[in-house]
Amino acid sequence: MEREKLLELISQMTLEEKVGMCSGADFWHLKGVERLGIPSVMVTDGPHGLRKQAEAGDHLGINESEKAVCFPAGCATASSFDRELIRKQGETIGQECQAMDVSTILGPAMNIKRSPLCGRNFEYYSEDPLVSSELAAALIEGVQSKNVGTSAKHFVANNQEKRRMTSSSDMDERTLREIYLTSFEGAIKKAKPWTVMNSYNRVNGEFVGDSHELLTGVLRDEWGFDGYVVSDWGAVNDRVTALKAGLDLEMPHGSDENDQMIVDAVRNGTLDESVVDTTCERILNIIFKYTENRDETAVFDYEKDHETAAEVEAGCMVLLKNDNNILPLDASKKIAFIGKYAKSPRYQGGGSSHINSWKVESALEAVEGLADVTFAAGYDDVKDEIDEKLQEEAVKTAQEADVAVLFIGLPDSFESEGYDRKHLNLPNCQNELVRKVLEVQKNVVVVLHNGSPVVMPWMNEVSGILETYLGGEAVGKATVNILFGKENPSGHLAETFPLKLSDTPCYLTYGKGFDHADYQEGVFTGYRYYTSKEMKTAFPFGHGLSYTTFEYNDLTVNKSEMNDTDQLTVSVKVKNTGNMKGKAVVQLYVSAPVTELVRPVRELRAFDKVELDVGEEKTVTFELNDRAFAYWNTLIHDWYVEDGTYKVMIGENADDMVLETEVLVHSTKKLPKTYSLNTCLGELMTDPDAQVVMGPFMQGMAQNQGAVEMAEAQENDESGVVNQEMMAAMMEGMPLRQLLSFVPGIKREMLEQMVEALNNNVKNN
Ligand code: BGC
Repeated sequence: MEREKLLELISQMTLEEKVGMCSGADFWHLKGVERLGIPSVMVTDGPHGLRKQAEAGDHLGINESEKAVCFPAGCATASSFDRELIRKQGETIGQECQAMDVSTILGPAMNIKRSPLCGRNFEYYSEDPLVSSELAAALIEGVQSKNVGTSAKHFVANNQEKRRMTSSSDMDERTLREIYLTSFEGAIKKAKPWTVMNSYNRVNGEFVGDSHELLTGVLRDEWGFDGYVVSDWGAVNDRVTALKAGLDLEMPHGSDENDQMIVDAVRNGTLDESVVDTTCERILNIIFKYTENRDETAVFDYEKDHETAAEVEAGCMVLLKNDNNILPLDASKKIAFIGKYAKSPRYQGGGSSHINSWKVESALEAVEGLADVTFAAGYDDVKDEIDEKLQEEAVKTAQEADVAVLFIGLPDSFESEGYDRKHLNLPNCQNELVRKVLEVQKNVVVVLHNGSPVVMPWMNEVSGILETYLGGEAVGKATVNILFGKENPSGHLAETFPLKLSDTPCYLTYGKGFDHADYQEGVFTGYRYYTSKEMKTAFPFGHGLSYTTFEYNDLTVNKSEMNDTDQLTVSVKVKNTGNMKGKAVVQLYVSAPVTELVRPVRELRAFDKVELDVGEEKTVTFELNDRAFAYWNTLIHDWYVEDGTYKVMIGENADDMVLETEVLVHSTKKLPKTYSLNTCLGELMTDPDAQVVMGPFMQGMAQNQGAVEMAEAQENDESGVVNQEMMAAMMEGMPLRQLLSFVPGIKREMLEQMVEALNNNVKNN
């Protein structure tokens, strides 16, 4: 609706009606105003399919919802590194929303995976903000192309389930910017979600829903967000503060008390009515954006969408290990499928994203007609107890086959929204099953079903490992297609698989602290930590094998020197050198020059996925801007590029760089500087601004008798006790004022004049 008309409509609304728009009608609907033709629209979870509850509503996935197609969860889709594929998933979900008359789907969920222990990691994308924000953007674009809204959630720093409704995520400004906000920033600027959902938690003590700085300063003023902010279900602390901060819509409808508080605040003059008007306009704008573009003809094509779910999942699975090319399987061999998940896979997580799946296709069903496989359940995932009978039967079945494929993973109770994991272990009964099978069968492939990393004590003994994550209702079909080589695996890990829990970056602090989470690891999340510390991992970020091989060549940059305001074009050739068509994930990392600043050894700055026929070569091009080199500078509260030589690299994964080139980047931003008697000589020596001013002063000082004598003594000293280099190193950390103590004849006044001149010089620049 045109703005003028919208404003006209708002002018006809009573204060109570306007305030009414700022909270839901019930669990899933916004209010309408019948007399003015404002419709009541529905919003629904999300993110990887529809959870449309016709009857009783809840946010924990308890009450049944209408049948829908369950797509792969965020943990899987992130591994695709495939914007096009995820966009397609989004388009399909958008179409389903139109068919079910859902105005906005509550997702994508795009919080950073700070620790693999977070119970909700299965819904989130990555430990890396670029991957997270790029894939979320693709999903948003896909859904919204069908004129249905999305809700980028949970803004921001909701990285644990423990006390998620009150806990404060405490971190420094740089960490918040570089990691946690960046995860949202790209998607919000690029894909413009219709809505953003504020998280339950606090950041540095303040509830996100109360934070004007985050909801208005960052989100709207800096990033240009123009939709409405909706509270996570029940994430409103103080309604009037929240409204002023920029939290537009309170969901779900609770009591009317919060609405009344807003009305009272306007009436008693503590809240300007224009705030309510603006909020109302934002909400109405989105409502009409949906209703005016409603597609009444849209149908929910379950069968077709199920196929799309299978296609997406096949592009997500990560082949972690494939010794002696045990995969793809030869269908003429005797193959045993072992494990309950071959028959009833774990394919989605628990909580608000839980979908009442239309149908679930297991690997056992999908393999029918393709190969004769034997099956044994091997374990029951309800209790973590060894069932001797099931185990014995499974070992026998494995022994009689040429290859045993073990379908294992995490049971529902091991990871869910609402609580965090306590460890990274698989159920003991499953690990024991792998061990027993290995005793009788040397050809073992493990197929994992889990929403977050697990430790694998048998990792070195099995020949193949295929990570399916939580692959959606068509996971069986996608798995079989990959196992038998009908499709080529192309997923790469969007998170590190550590060797053990105590290796993880926030091991010492995660889950500790009563109502405070201390983000002590700072910007060193995920691979930024492991690579900087040169630690071994089970599988690094970015790792993923294929049935073919790729070779990278000719990494070029279009300039070897540039300003931070310039754009850098990087290109690299990638060739399929194997025997099967496949997709490569080209990963570009940047290393900053080594300076005083603490920075990760390398960071992913661009990626692309390309399909290549056998023997085919393509050139992949990336455009890098200042953000590829910048860090968040807390003096200027802005992105800043340090002067220096940056390495631009292509990596197979975060550990393994295969090509490297360099670019010299000059900063065009000036950092504020002040000098004092405590400014150190080392700093002044390398500071071009200071050099200009200090020259004459230093000359003057050098001429005084005491300094001359000192210099002579040093020159004539043959003892070698203090040589030139040592002297320079000692001077490095010496504040100006120390010259008073060590250089005879130097006066405080001289130094003070110099400091004044230094400060005047930078002020005038
Ligand atoms: C979850 C949200 C979800 C909402 C509605 C909350 O508890 O955190 O992700 O969209 O419930 O179900």
